[in-house]
Amino acid sequence: MEQQPQPHVTPQPVQPLQPTAPQSADLPALPAQVKPVRIAAVGDIHVRETDKGKWVDFFKAASDQADVLLLCGDLTDHGYAKEAEVLAEEMRACTIPVVCVLGNHDHDKDEHEQIRSCLLRDNVHFLDGDAVVIKNVGFAGVKGFGGGFDKYMLSMFGEVSNKAFVQEAVDEALKLEAGLSRLDTEHPEVKKIALLHYAPIKATVEGEPEAIHPFLGCSRLAEPLNRQNVLACFHGHAHIGTLEGETSKGVKVFNVAKPILQKAGFAMPFFLFDV
Ligand SMILES: [Fe+2]
Ligand SMILES: [Fe+2]
Repeated sequence: MEQQPQPHVTPQPVQPLQPTAPQSADLPALPAQVKPVRIAAVGDIHVRETDKGKWVDFFKAASDQADVLLLCGDLTDHGYAKEAEVLAEEMRACTIPVVCVLGNHDHDKDEHEQIRSCLLRDNVHFLDGDAVVIKNVGFAGVKGFGGGFDKYMLSMFGEVSNKAFVQEAVDEALKLEAGLSRLDTEHPEVKKIALLHYAPIKATVEGEPEAIHPFLGCSRLAEPLNRQNVLACFHGHAHIGTLEGETSKGVKVFNVAKPILQKAGFAMPFFLFDV
């Protein structure tokens, strides 16, 4: 390949340092005031084709009140790309960066790739085992999967189909670990936030019928949160679960499924969290 000519730079003489004004020894240096980064988070917005115009106020309010918006999966109701087209139009009202993961509903019609590409733009980030740093906060995310919690978690045993079900949750946990590790390696100074659709702990699905808990999340997803010193994790999926919980190592977990926020009386269905 032909080499581009390099611009010529004339060396400049080194200027002697000018003495600065003497500092008062009586005044201690004040610590710099660092403004927290405010996160707005919601899951399960389940946008439909008939929702045109219904989400503009939501995105305007989130943009006014927060620095980053997290969308924790089930962005569409039936998993149609057409629904994502409506959402993409509504999201024009959003002026802050958006970080998303997909949910099980977004996968239902096998149009999840179209949904992702329809919503992707400069300030919209989809996470699936990767990470992004925004305003000095690190976000890692995956969809997650089911499998149950604690001593009732499904184990890798029996039929091939059962093992495949378990493997899906193992793979999602490994992807989350990879995203969080990448933040640790490349941005060790940032605080880490995790984004999921499925729940990593039982506490935030409490309220749902116990019989369906294994389909709402899996304890395997909590292992990377504990190991990687995550500050907080946001998820959805369990629409009638519980807003707040924590992992065995004290990582805060918030189930921000829209119906939970509405039931809790949030004027606008997003949860605010300062980092
Ligand atoms: Fe949902
Ligand atoms: Fe879901």
